[in-house]
Amino acid sequence: MERWTFALAILCLVWSDGGAVTVEIPQPQYEFARGDNITLPCTFKTTKVNPAVIVVTWSAEAAEVDAEENQVLSHFWPSGQTDITSKYEGRASLDVDIKRGRANLKLSSITLDDNKSFECRLLIQGDDEGTPADTTRLVVLVAPSTPICKIQGTAEYGQNINLTCRSEEGSPPPTYTWKSVDTQSMPRAPYPRSVDKGGILSLFNISKESSGYYTCTSTNKIRSAQCNITLSVMPPSMNIGSTAGIIGGVVAALIVLIVIIYCCCCRKKKEGEEEYAMGKVEDEYHDKEPNTNGGGRRADEEESVRGPDDDRVRSPVERRDDYEERSERDYDRRRDYDDRRSDYDDRRSDYTDRRERYDDDRHYDDERRYDDRRDRRYEDDDRERAPRRDYDD
Ligand SMILES: *[C@@H]1O[C@H](CO)[C@@H](O)[C@H](O)[C@H]1NC(C)=O
Ligand SMILES: *[C@@H]1O[C@H](CO)[C@@H](O)[C@H](O)[C@H]1NC(C)=O
Ligand SMILES: *[C@@H]1O[C@H](CO)[C@@H](O)[C@H](O)[C@H]1NC(C)=O
Ligand SMILES: *[C@@H]1O[C@H](CO)[C@@H](O)[C@H](O)[C@H]1NC(C)=O
Ligand SMILES: *[C@@H]1O[C@H](CO)[C@@H](O)[C@H](O)[C@H]1NC(C)=O
Repeated sequence: MERWTFALAILCLVWSDGGAVTVEIPQPQYEFARGDNITLPCTFKTTKVNPAVIVVTWSAEAAEVDAEENQVLSHFWPSGQTDITSKYEGRASLDVDIKRGRANLKLSSITLDDNKSFECRLLIQGDDEGTPADTTRLVVLVAPSTPICKIQGTAEYGQNINLTCRSEEGSPPPTYTWKSVDTQSMPRAPYPRSVDKGGILSLFNISKESSGYYTCTSTNKIRSAQCNITLSVMPPSMNIGSTAGIIGGVVAALIVLIVIIYCCCCRKKKEGEEEYAMGKVEDEYHDKEPNTNGGGRRADEEESVRGPDDDRVRSPVERRDDYEERSERDYDRRRDYDDRRSDYDDRRSDYTDRRERYDDDRHYDDERRYDDRRDRRYEDDDRERAPRRDYDD
């Protein structure tokens, strides 16, 4: 009898030890908006009485085939330690109560990267039967971004146009609806010749009655967003395009006028500059003149040294006459510049100084020569002078 009881007790122990863990996540799929703080629930039961070690693990697996499975965290009982992988560090935590069979995963600020399958798994020492794991899908939803409303085509009487509406983001993809209010902001029946499809409101043969405010609402299962547009249908002659054309023409004409005026001013200025340049050239010419005269002077001196017997030498008085005649002419020309140029005067006075010096020298020569030749040469000189003067003139 005792043997039987013992055997039964052993049997019971073995039976209760085997295949008694069940892990369960209530829903196959959870939907949350991007950025939310979420909890993925997980419960478990085990028939093992006072198991020595229990390990809870959560992991994530992307939907793609052969996607690698990422460990999120591991919790060890009875030590109570939770290891969180670096990818989820600071973002994941475990809401765990082993006695009550709870091991919920908490994720904060979920992103599109969390759009995955999550698995909750239990490892219980001495209890490896039953269903030790369950999975669920986390669907991350994205609210539609504020849509952009646009007009395609020309808003003129009789034209066909499209009003387009599109959100850049949104998951699941948003649906779009167009609503119209008239110019008094009263809701009105849809324009009869229109088709609203996929965010494009096509208006055919538009008229004044098509004008008004149009609102597009972009909606998905978590949120909606709106954009507005004002449609003003114009008669063909008065549309914005031709107004812009007229304004453009006027502006172009103005620009041409300004360019012409500017060119005229430029030409006047240039002519002024050319005159200035010419003045400069002549100025240089006069600058050199004293040097030429200086050379002449040297020649004169040589000639006077050669002595009174040289027939080619004209009397200095006569030469001076010539010289003064030339000077006079030059001076007349120069007077023009004197009016304009003040610095020229300086140089000119310089020149006059030199000429005066030169005259002094000559005067000395004259007197000397006059004394030497007075008797012999006076008659001859007179005779020679006459024909030469003619030639010089
Ligand atoms: C999510 O949790 C973080 C802290 O982990 C907090 O700063 C944030 O405000 C929470 N966001 C929402 C939407 O509750
Ligand atoms: C999340 O995953 C589901 C299923 O794989 C997919 O249909 C959905 O487009 C994904 N969402 C985003 C925002 O990628
Ligand atoms: C309006 O949209 C339809 C369909 O997308 C297209 O065939 C048509 O060319 C568009 N009209 C204009 C004026 O853009
Ligand atoms: C366009 O509408 C006007 C009235 O607004 C009508 O007289 C004309 O026949 C229409 N044209 C077409 C091509 O439907
Ligand atoms: C559209 O207009 C409505 C009122 O007419 C306004 O409440 C809403 O903010 C506007 N939306 C945008 C995107 O301008």
